[in-house]
Amino acid sequence: NGKYTVTLIPGDGIGPEISESVKAIYTAANVPIEWEEVSVTPILKAGKTVIPDAAINSVKKNTVALKGPLATPIGKGHVSLNLTLRRTFNLFANVRPCASIAGFKTPYDDVNTVLIRENTEGEYSGIEHELVDGVVQSIKLITWDASERVARYAFQYAASQGRNKVTAVHKANIMKMSDGMFLSACREVAKEFPQISYDEDLLDRVCLQIVQNPKPYADRVMVMPNLYGDILSDMCAGLIGGLGLTPSGNIGRDASIFEAVHGSAPDIAGKGLANPTALLLSSLMMLRHMNLNDHAAKIEKAALGTIAEGKSITGDLGGKASTKEYTDAIIAKLR
Ligand code: IPM
Ligand code: MN
Repeated sequence: NGKYTVTLIPGDGIGPEISESVKAIYTAANVPIEWEEVSVTPILKAGKTVIPDAAINSVKKNTVALKGPLATPIGKGHVSLNLTLRRTFNLFANVRPCASIAGFKTPYDDVNTVLIRENTEGEYSGIEHELVDGVVQSIKLITWDASERVARYAFQYAASQGRNKVTAVHKANIMKMSDGMFLSACREVAKEFPQISYDEDLLDRVCLQIVQNPKPYADRVMVMPNLYGDILSDMCAGLIGGLGLTPSGNIGRDASIFEAVHGSAPDIAGKGLANPTALLLSSLMMLRHMNLNDHAAKIEKAALGTIAEGKSITGDLGGKASTKEYTDAIIAKLR
C-alpha cells in the first residue's frame, strides 16, 4: 500500500499524550506511515525483567521506531529501559541537534550545534559493585571500537550536513587512559576526512564557553563519551528553551530509535498540558532518516511557525495552550 510501517513506543507519563499529538499531525500531513504500537513495559521472564518480545521483534522488523519517554527508577530497581533499548539494538550514536528556534525568545539566538554522544558504553556500562561496606565502584568502560565507530559517524554526519568542524569533547587531562584512547580514535578517524577540521576541547571549558557565547559552536559537530553527552545535551537544551524543544536519534546499523530527550513528566501527565514538540522534532529526524524529506520540511514549517506566532504554545514555553490546542494550530497550518 506504499506505506512504511514504523514502531511506536508511546512510553510513560506524558508519552501517550504527545504520541497522540504526533499521530494527529502525521495524519493531517498525509505522511505515508502506519504506526505499529508496542509496549515496552518490562515483564518477568525466567526471573529477569526484560522487554517483551513483541516490542523487540517490531523494532527489528521495521528498523525504525519513534519512542516517548520511559520512567527510569533512580538509585535502585531495574536497569533503565531506555538503556536496554539502546543496548539491545546496538544504537551506537546518539545524535542531538540543538538549534535556536526562530521566533522563540531566549537570551541566546544563535545556537546551532549538534552533539553526538557515544551511546553504548562509558559510564553507562552498568558495571557496578560494592567492594567493602562504604566503598563502591562504577566502571567507565571505553573501547577502541566503539570510540572509532562513533567518531566515524560524527565525521560522516558532519560531511553530509555541510558542517566543516568536528570537536571531540573530553576530560583526558584526568581520565588519561579512557578519554585519552577516545581522543586517539577520533584523531585516527579525522585523517579520513581531510576536508573537515578537527579539534579537541575539555568538557568543563566547553560548558563555560558555550553559555557565554554559543556562536563559535554553531556549524560544528561535537562528539563525546556517553555521560558527557548526556549532561552537555541538557545544558545546550537550556540555551534554546528547554527539553520540550530538543530532538534526538539513536542510530544503529540495523535499527534506529528516535526519541525526545525529556522525561515522562509525571507531575503533568494525563492533564493534556504537555509540549509534544520534542517528540515531533524527533519524528522529523526520523522522516529525514527515511528520506521523507518533503513531509519533514512541511511539518517543521507548521510547527516552528506555530511556536513563532506564540499564540498557541504550551505552558513550558510561556503560553496557555493545551497539547490539543497547540496540535490543532499546527494542523491548521498544514492545510
Ligand atoms: C537521555 C536520558 C537518559 C540518559 C535516561 C532516561 C536513561 O536522560 O536520553 O538523555 O541518561 O541517557
Ligand atoms: Mn539525559
